[in-house]
Amino acid sequence: MSTRTNTISWTRNNIFSEKLSYRNDQVRICGIEDYKACARTLAEAFYDDDVAFYFLDVPDNGGKTREQLWPLHLEVLEYIVCAHIHNGLVLSIGENHEGVALWMPPGKNMDDWFTIFRTGMWRLWFKLTAEGKRRYFGEFMEVLHQTKVNALKEQDEKAWYLVYIGVTPNARGRGYARKLVEHVTNKVDAEGGAPCYLESSHIRNVPMYQRFGFIKHSRIELGADTGKPVPLDIMIRPPMTYTKTGRRMSTAGRKLGSA
Ligand SMILES: CC(C)(COP(=O)(O)OP(=O)(O)OC[C@H]1O[C@@H](n2cnc3c(N)ncnc32)[C@H](O)[C@@H]1OP(=O)(O)O)[C@@H](O)C(=O)NCCC(=O)NCCS
Repeated sequence: MSTRTNTISWTRNNIFSEKLSYRNDQVRICGIEDYKACARTLAEAFYDDDVAFYFLDVPDNGGKTREQLWPLHLEVLEYIVCAHIHNGLVLSIGENHEGVALWMPPGKNMDDWFTIFRTGMWRLWFKLTAEGKRRYFGEFMEVLHQTKVNALKEQDEKAWYLVYIGVTPNARGRGYARKLVEHVTNKVDAEGGAPCYLESSHIRNVPMYQRFGFIKHSRIELGADTGKPVPLDIMIRPPMTYTKTGRRMSTAGRKLGSA
């Protein structure tokens, strides 16, 4: 907590305390009114990400640059954030939602028809190029779904899925990502433990996820036939439970971690 925030809280009455707590870098649960700001954060964070652009940066898009693709990149993320507000959990941190995490709780997903229509995601059918559609609807969604089922096996229905996490470049290194992850993992551990799952879209993030208790499970590639394959590292945080001496991986966790 900064000294400045302390002073402000001291001089104002408690009615402002909830708003001020945003300044204190606390994680909050976002509602539909936050979807544009959260999507903007993710769009900025994933501007250099090859997985986020896998279905936009395609050979039949007329040679568009990332800058030209920005509006569509942002729009895709708006649909995805909306889907998580409706079906999952959207967390943010920072005064202007500078850090955002999209979590899907056990047994939930965003690829059912109702969600595709409710969020407006169906519009992508008309906005993506033919190759973009093939990659998004025909490959991306299907491969990610099947990989998760195969990796987690019977634990799939119990797993929390960290679908996206991003922090705007100017707010990195403040511990936002850790707080957005631990908001869920601490709760899950305290409630008896459940696996958490993610696909890391860049090798540089693997050590960070390892610090949060995730273990590298396997690697997959999107677009093996495109000449520019995009790798994804599959990581699982095995169920952990509290003991008198601290946190401990459960028996189910040992099996998941050793795939
Ligand atoms: C990855 C990202 C979310 C990290 O956000 P952040 O708020 O800067 O991360 P934090 O400050 O919470 O750091 C978390 C921990 O990971 C460590 N860390 C951060 N980046 C790291 C890296 N590239 N390699 C190793 N460790 C790293 C930090 O030292 C910190 O460790 P500690 O808590 O034990 O001290 C952010 O850099 C980002 O948005 N990147 C672009 C989008 C992206 O790649 N998202 C993830 C997709 S898989």
